[in-house]
Amino acid sequence: MSEHGVKHTTDWVVGPVVGHVTPETVRLWVRGRAAGPVFAWVGREPDLRDARLAAAGQTWPEAGFAAVVDVTGLEPDTRYFYTLTAAETPPAGPGPYPSFQTAPPADAAGPLTFVFGSCFVPGNPYGEATVQRLLHLLTAADAPRFGLLLGDQIYPDAASENGLGRIALTVDDYREAYRLAWAETAWREALARLPWYMIWDDHEVDNDWFWTSPDRVEAQTSWYTRLLRRLTGQPRETWVNISRRRLHAAVQTFWEHQMMHGAPLRLPPEGVEAQRPLILTSDRGHFGYTFTYGPAAFYVLDLHSHRYMGAYGRAMMNAEQWADLEHWLLDVRDRYPIKFLVSSVSVFFQQRLPMGGGRWDDFPDERRRLVHLLNAHQVEGLFILTGDLHVAHVVEARLEGTERPFDAWEFSVSPWGQHVFRWGRLLGKPARFPGVRTARWLGTWAVPNFGWVRYGTEPRPWLLFRLETPTGPRLTVRLEHDPARGWQRVASEPGA
Ligand SMILES: [Fe+2]
Repeated sequence: MSEHGVKHTTDWVVGPVVGHVTPETVRLWVRGRAAGPVFAWVGREPDLRDARLAAAGQTWPEAGFAAVVDVTGLEPDTRYFYTLTAAETPPAGPGPYPSFQTAPPADAAGPLTFVFGSCFVPGNPYGEATVQRLLHLLTAADAPRFGLLLGDQIYPDAASENGLGRIALTVDDYREAYRLAWAETAWREALARLPWYMIWDDHEVDNDWFWTSPDRVEAQTSWYTRLLRRLTGQPRETWVNISRRRLHAAVQTFWEHQMMHGAPLRLPPEGVEAQRPLILTSDRGHFGYTFTYGPAAFYVLDLHSHRYMGAYGRAMMNAEQWADLEHWLLDVRDRYPIKFLVSSVSVFFQQRLPMGGGRWDDFPDERRRLVHLLNAHQVEGLFILTGDLHVAHVVEARLEGTERPFDAWEFSVSPWGQHVFRWGRLLGKPARFPGVRTARWLGTWAVPNFGWVRYGTEPRPWLLFRLETPTGPRLTVRLEHDPARGWQRVASEPGA
């Protein structure tokens, strides 16, 4: 048992993880060792002396014995302690037990806080200092209520850092990569003590991977990854086309660990009802989802299920995904003063050299299309959250708009724990393209980091962004909505 309130039982290999939370419900996840029931005990007292059996679920053999328990009938804005057991006996020990807070009522004004970040591998040069910093923030008065993980939650391909000592090839390898990252590090605490919303970036499958056509018959990694692996004597399976067994292993374990406990998907891929997402050529389904939290609406994009590059052209998302995004923007534009577009990769980072790598600057037609949607529908109060770069940046962009120009901001954070991209500032710049009047950096930071966001609507909609590092905040940006002029930056200060 650890000092922070996560009881380590032998019942579970990984978890518990707190998933999607609403004012009345929560989804609790674990991965077990065998087929069997999972019981969720929930109470208001830290030692669970008032615990009631709130719900039960089953581990799924076809999903690596992962299970989700859906707890309903909770009170909004309330802290609950909990534990998951394999036997139907109430928790007896003194704890400590982890806890989570339910979401506030839909009409809540805030303030509300969340964190977000991406990129963690257990053997990284900075260890888990960012995660320790997050655990420290959980006891503050303005503690985060939930978190977003924006991709590269595991690095199955990073042989020397993932703990496996090799590039993952099988479903057991991929599951072990999750166990090493989530059960053997401070993430065990963090995942149990906060609801988390997740999406993949490239490494959940392989470095910079993509389909070679929209039919999704063949997948590859980048040419430089394949060349490097060939030169360093890696198994042939890692440098020819991505094998079907690796793809299956990656998609299956992504579903089990990251999606199974999430918010409802906008258009679920076939197979997820049976806990086995299929990768059918004809299936237009994807892992994108939306949720709301008080006065903020979130759209989490899936930029990998249908990404392709090659002789047939290139795209980040399919037609159904684009139509869905547009419908959502129109739906939330006036109903939610604060909107977050969650993209695993940066929209506003422009590489000076066209090296590839699969960010929006490699898909210029779609990047224009994205900004065109914001301009054409005059979607003000939209903030882009992103990761991937291994260097943090804040971009302030002035978009053309249809009725009037308006500002949008991109908060790009990463890594939680990975090598930092020291040359990011020299090798990149803020992207300007049709629809964007100006774009400029408020700064870049090549240190381990994650994002902290607080928002509310009193007296007017406002947002505070803080770039968090193991030693404290490095930047604070305050944005406010002015009834006449729209969203404005009113302050930005360097931190400690
Ligand atoms: Fe990464």
